[in-house]
Amino acid sequence: MIDYARVEHLVRQAGQMILDANLTAEQVHIKKQHDFVTDYDVRIQDYLVETLSQVIPEATFFGEEMAEDQRACGDGFCFYIDPIDGTTNFIHAYQHSCVSLGISSEKRMIAGFVYNPYTNEMYRAIRGQGAYLNDKRLWTENRRLEEGISAFNMPSKPEKMDDFLDFLRRLYGKAETIRVGGSAALDLCRVASGSNVAYVQTQLQPYDYAAASVIIEEAGGVISQLDGSPVSLQEPCFVVAGAPVAYVEIRNIALEAFKS
Ligand code: IPD
Ligand code: CA
Ligand code: CA
Repeated sequence: MIDYARVEHLVRQAGQMILDANLTAEQVHIKKQHDFVTDYDVRIQDYLVETLSQVIPEATFFGEEMAEDQRACGDGFCFYIDPIDGTTNFIHAYQHSCVSLGISSEKRMIAGFVYNPYTNEMYRAIRGQGAYLNDKRLWTENRRLEEGISAFNMPSKPEKMDDFLDFLRRLYGKAETIRVGGSAALDLCRVASGSNVAYVQTQLQPYDYAAASVIIEEAGGVISQLDGSPVSLQEPCFVVAGAPVAYVEIRNIALEAFKS
């Protein structure tokens, strides 16, 4: 039996490290174009790996700031860690970032915790026990695209820019309005809470969406790849999510725009 209360406490502690950060220019490093890592990303990941290893000693880890060949999810318990989702926001003091922690077992997500320390909002779900935002039970209201906010994030590489702009043009015609938050995990959790009615990003990594995927599903929402198959827990994929009706609508728009 996993001590979920302890896990949640550690995620909150990690969030506190974001709030307490005093970031200097020397602590910001470029991974690749428009992709940054700060000393705090690494510090928070190290903290979580060390402390979560005491909660489930046999667990493996799939963390953003690990070398790719160190990310190993076995059949047992695995922690998916994004120590700061929204690093660019963090660097620019945008105050919209989170800690994202997902737990899988036998290659299926069983729990997720996504914590926004700036607003003290903890999204959490344990498979079969519902999704919560702090103490409030979440249930996704089944709305259409025209009845809510659609969110997306910019692809970092512009190679499919024409398709992407086509997608936006089509979405703009259907959505009530559109937002770009800069933290995939928070945007996805807002699908669970209903603040977003739908979400699309052409490429995300498992640590971006692992935790949010179980939160969305436990709230009655839908998350999948573009072709409708389950999101991958091993490699990056196209992610579509939404309230059931809005999900179908936004996926159809994406299928049209990205069919090439
Ligand atoms: C990024 C954020 C952003 C999304 C990027 C992600 P990071 O994660 O979630 O919203 O557009 O694709 O890489 O690098 O801030 O953890
Ligand atoms: Ca991320
Ligand atoms: Ca990150």
